[in-house]
Amino acid sequence: MRTGKPSKTAIKVSSSIVTLGTTSYGQQILPDGLVDASEKILLASGVVSEKGVRWIKSPRMVSVYRAFDWLLPGQFEALGERKAFFERQVRAGIAAGATQILVLGAGFDTLGWRLATEFPKVKFFEIDHPVTANVKAKAVSKLGRRGNLYLIAEELGKRKLPDVLATHGSWNRESRSVILAEGLLMYLPAQAVRELFGQCLAIAGAESRVVFSYIPAGPDGRLDAGRWTGLMLWLQKVAGEPWLWSIEPQNIRSFLEGIGWKIAPELEGGTGRHSTEYFAVATNQA
Ligand SMILES: C[S@@+](CC[C@H](N)C(=O)[O-])C[C@H]1O[C@@H](n2cnc3c(N)ncnc32)[C@H](O)[C@@H]1O
Repeated sequence: MRTGKPSKTAIKVSSSIVTLGTTSYGQQILPDGLVDASEKILLASGVVSEKGVRWIKSPRMVSVYRAFDWLLPGQFEALGERKAFFERQVRAGIAAGATQILVLGAGFDTLGWRLATEFPKVKFFEIDHPVTANVKAKAVSKLGRRGNLYLIAEELGKRKLPDVLATHGSWNRESRSVILAEGLLMYLPAQAVRELFGQCLAIAGAESRVVFSYIPAGPDGRLDAGRWTGLMLWLQKVAGEPWLWSIEPQNIRSFLEGIGWKIAPELEGGTGRHSTEYFAVATNQA
């Protein structure tokens, strides 16, 4: 992971949502308010200029995504489907009684900032690398802080989640929680992914959920992002955010059961594969 600069991939995810919002497909699937909020957060954090926003909202930018679709077919639309999936999961979790939402590797995601006003009794937490978290915090201060949104600047893996949240007095490890790992696990080494799920178990009350996305591995056990996997692995490495973790979809159940979680296909809504990624939900229900 590059240090000193905000995450490139986080900027890319949020700016592609702004671009997707100019298309009729984006307008159909993206949650209300997401595109506008993403544009505001990108601008206010200074990672995209006014001119940059005009470019990412232009039809030419849509053409660029379409022209590079061969690299990761369907990825442009899939990022929108991912945002919609994670927001549906958070809303469903709150409806089922969750009072804490934790967004791991939040980047410039706007879910916490938007939903904190809609659900004033729910506490929203975000964690990201200090550089990314700090520029995001600057943006949130400019645009309007929420009393129930806590932004934590921390590198996952350096300090354990229970310790990070313990120093943050507002987190209650007995509360029913929804923990999000959207577009994150592929950036962590295998051991860190196992440990992260273990730590999630330690911080969450009964009937909590982890909502996550992951890149599948092929039958040879190696990450499979489609035909151009080798090129993608190289591009990610050069960008300073290499893809490290993947898992065969048929092994996800046993992987989670081995670390205290249970896959919950009944909560997923039959999502399956979206371009490079699978979306999934796990619960700690007995
Ligand atoms: C692809 S971006 C996804 C951002 C956001 N979840 C979204 O989907 O809009 C991955 C994010 O994970 C963060 N990240 C990766 N490894 C991390 C680590 N070890 N600790 C904290 N954050 C990490 C990056 O800084 C980046 O913001």
